Amino acid sequence: MKIIDNVKELKEEIKKLKGSIGLVPTMGALHDGHLSLIKRATRENDNVVVSVFVNPIQFAPSEDLDKYPRQPEKDIQLCKNEGVKIVFIPKISEMYSDDKGNLTLICPPYNVVDKLCGKSRPGHFDGVCSVVAKLFNLTKANKAYFGQKDAQQLFIVKKMVRDLNFDVQIVSCPIIREPDNLALSSRNKYLTQNDRKLALNISKALFNLKKLFTQGVVDIRDLVDVSLKIMDGLDVEYIEFVDKNTFNFKTKADRDTLVLVAARVPESNTRLIDNIKLWE
Ligand code: PAJ
Repeated sequence: MKIIDNVKELKEEIKKLKGSIGLVPTMGALHDGHLSLIKRATRENDNVVVSVFVNPIQFAPSEDLDKYPRQPEKDIQLCKNEGVKIVFIPKISEMYSDDKGNLTLICPPYNVVDKLCGKSRPGHFDGVCSVVAKLFNLTKANKAYFGQKDAQQLFIVKKMVRDLNFDVQIVSCPIIREPDNLALSSRNKYLTQNDRKLALNISKALFNLKKLFTQGVVDIRDLVDVSLKIMDGLDVEYIEFVDKNTFNFKTKADRDTLVLVAARVPESNTRLIDNIKLWE
């Protein structure tokens, strides 16, 4: 396995690879959610490239860029165990040689970012799309693997690929959860014992919604009310019902509905996201 920290060497090594290339973009602190993407990529490609880069331009100044968990040695070992060919782990200056305020960015349209996570994190998806586009260009990946955990990100990346005719197939991978259903996230490391208990109520509310829907409840106000009761004690930023294919808001729950939640836990003030498809 090659560990590469600069663009020039990455380009050279990518040229030498034979067969298909699967890319798994990450910000590191790898957990079983990331590993599920990496395992699938190794099954489906001759070569797998994993990028580990805490991308500063997708964090707002008030966010957790500085304290975001970093464990490069462990991440490298985990990738090695999975048979990854290249771990790309660049410094910020290698990815953004020009200064931060002077970059060419890819900005998804207003109507897809003015909701859900994009609403409270202005500029976040510009940062995500821009770094993901760079990684597509650098790795020449045939397939790239993204988790449904970040459903809005997955939707926006797919749209970018369509809109800009990138030659890469986006593979959407299911959410990996703890045995008690908490969605795995690098940010779970921030949780205190109390937070961990309260955080469970996010997935509890979502799974309960799915149950209610299969029992015939389709009124969104009713579904939101019960969910907010279950998530009492959490600071719920949003609970929204969208069409899973268009991300347009729903007026009634149906089989195409995806429900998304963002909430903060009180002690560590960690912002967590999760989502569930009401059907399938
Ligand atoms: P990061 O949060 O490290 O996530 C990397 C990939 O792992 C994403 O596609 C994410 O959806 C997926 N993932 C995270 N938790 C998961 C879980 N519990 N189950 C399944 N997949 C999971 O998302 C990012 O990094 C960044 O925004 C990035 C795309 C790398 C751009 O910087």
